[in-house]
Amino acid sequence: MSSETASTWLRAQPALTGTPRSVAFDDLPDDPTALFLSWISEAAELGVAEPHAASLATVDADGVPDARTLILKDVSDRGWAFAGHRASQKAEQLLAHPVAALNFWWQPLVRAVRVRGAVEEATHEESDADLAARSASAREGIAPGEWVLWRLAPTRIEFWNGSVDRRHTRIVYFREGDNWSHTVTGGEADGATTA
Ligand SMILES: Cc1cc2nc3c(=O)[nH]c(=O)nc-3n(C[C@H](O)[C@H](O)[C@H](O)COP(=O)(O)O)c2cc1C
Repeated sequence: MSSETASTWLRAQPALTGTPRSVAFDDLPDDPTALFLSWISEAAELGVAEPHAASLATVDADGVPDARTLILKDVSDRGWAFAGHRASQKAEQLLAHPVAALNFWWQPLVRAVRVRGAVEEATHEESDADLAARSASAREGIAPGEWVLWRLAPTRIEFWNGSVDRRHTRIVYFREGDNWSHTVTGGEADGATTA
C-alpha cells in the first residue's frame, strides 16, 4: 500500500461507530473509582472482550514517551495496579520517572478512560503473590523477584463519553489532597461544573 493509498484508506475507515451510553451527569459519584468500576462492568456486560486491557504510557530517562498494552490487576484506594517483568522497558522507565498514564477504550460503548499519576512499586510479598496468581504457563521462566506489581495513584482521571451528535462529554476528576472534585464539559452538560 503506498502512503497515498494508506491515507485514503485510513480516512475512509469509520470511527466512533459504537452505541453511545447515557450518563447521569448530575448524579456522579464523588469517588472516580466507583464510576470506573461501573463503566468497566457495563463494558463487560455489553460484550467488550478484555475490558481490563489498557495502554500504559511511561517516560524513559531521556524524557521520551513509550506505551504498551497490559492488564489492570486491581483498582482501590491504594491505586491502580499493574504488573510486569523487572527486566522490562517499563520497569527501567518507571525507575527513571515513577509516573505513568493508563488509557482504556471501549469501542462498543464509545467510552474511554484516561488516568495519570505517580507510580510506586508494591511490596515484594505483593509482587510475588501476583506472580503466584498467574497461570502456570504465564509464570513459566519467571522467578519470584523478577516480577513486579506497581500501583498508580491517580491525580487526574478523565471519563470520555461519546455522543451520537459528536457533542462528546468529558468528566474530569482531580485529586485535591484526600478529596476528589470533578468537572463536566461538552455535550449536554456544556459549561456545567460540579464539585
Ligand atoms: C492484551 C495484552 C495484555 C498484556 N498484558 C501484559 C501485562 O499484564 N503485563 C506485562 O508486562 N505485559 C503485558 N503485555 C505485553 C506488553 O504489551 C509488552 O509487550 C511488554 O510488557 C513489554 O513492554 P515493555 O518492554 O515496554 O516493558 C500484554 C500485551 C497485550 C497485547
